[in-house]
Amino acid sequence: MKALVIQPAFGLENLAVAERPAPTPGPGQVLVRVRAASLNFRDLLLAKGQYNPKLQFPRVLGSDAAGEVVAVGPGVTRFKADDRVMNCFMPDWEDGPITDAVAKSTFGSDRDGVFAEFVALDERAVVTIPAHLTFEEAATLPCAAVTAWNALTAAETAPGTTVLLQGTGGVSIFALQLAHALGARALITSSSDEKLARAAALGAAAGVNYRTNPDWDKWARQQTGGAGADLVVEVGGAGTLERSVKAVKTGGHVALIGVLAGMGPFNPIAVLMKAVRLQGVFVGSRAMFEQMNRVITAKQIRPVIDRVFPFAEAPAAFKYMESGAHFGKVVMSV
Ligand SMILES: NC(=O)c1ccc[n+]([C@@H]2O[C@H](COP(=O)([O-])OP(=O)(O)OC[C@H]3O[C@@H](n4cnc5c(N)ncnc54)[C@H](OP(=O)(O)O)[C@@H]3O)[C@@H](O)[C@H]2O)c1
Repeated sequence: MKALVIQPAFGLENLAVAERPAPTPGPGQVLVRVRAASLNFRDLLLAKGQYNPKLQFPRVLGSDAAGEVVAVGPGVTRFKADDRVMNCFMPDWEDGPITDAVAKSTFGSDRDGVFAEFVALDERAVVTIPAHLTFEEAATLPCAAVTAWNALTAAETAPGTTVLLQGTGGVSIFALQLAHALGARALITSSSDEKLARAAALGAAAGVNYRTNPDWDKWARQQTGGAGADLVVEVGGAGTLERSVKAVKTGGHVALIGVLAGMGPFNPIAVLMKAVRLQGVFVGSRAMFEQMNRVITAKQIRPVIDRVFPFAEAPAAFKYMESGAHFGKVVMSV
């Protein structure tokens, strides 16, 4: 079978679609024929050696896939052939709080990933695709959507609350759609006025261009009567965190998710003076994934796919993702 492999060293130039032995399902496993997969910023970081410096080569990359079950191993009870499924980001995190052990079992980093024509998955690490979604749409959910859902629900996002989202990449656009579904008001930033218009069409109440208006924290406070947002979904990291703490209300919540704006120093004084709850979010459990899928089904939410690449052009998909031109998710059809 074909798989997207990185070897013998880090670097996008070392990505290639290569032949690998096809897996067979062991006890408790399902064999999934992958039909689509989606890229996350993490895949770029992984390929560049900025996520897991101890990555073992050759490594099959990828954390998000959707496909159909083609065979089941001994003892499988939850799935059967032809079921349409997606993998969980952390195969060992079924429910309850995150632990050190489950956080160290992620696809495409600690073990081979799912950018392959076939994957053998523990049945407990698999969820059913909502009936209204295509394989390509479903392949966008395991990482970005579950992360957005975890951040929103941990902050008790509900009608009457305001969330501030940064940029229009995968996590932020899911956070926009899901915040809207939860009845919250969403504010969003972007480097592009055209992308802001698209976000408004998806339900954003207001948007600001963070290039032409770098004081987006002040803008967010103005948009909330001076109080600040209830939740900031922080995907920028150290480069945006100080402004996020200014943009959130006193006693509000900042979900620390990403590192898009790079690393750097951070002054924590405002966090304590405003009694901000700063919470790291690392994707989510299978239970969160299933809970989110119930809302996606009830509200008939369709993930926003920017572009679909054929699997043979996977390295080009990585380069496109790196350009930041996308709105929502970049997908590969397998
Ligand atoms: N902790 C977790 O569990 C978890 C899970 C998923 C992702 N992440 C992290 O979250 C971040 C987002 O991931 P993703 O997959 O959604 O990435 P993505 O789709 O590649 O997001 C790219 C977009 O982010 C926006 N952006 C870039 N720099 C920005 C800045 N300085 N300020 C505001 N927005 C900026 C840009 O939007 P515009 O073009 O609109 O400006 C860009 O197009 C990454 O750092 C990723 O590693 C973490």
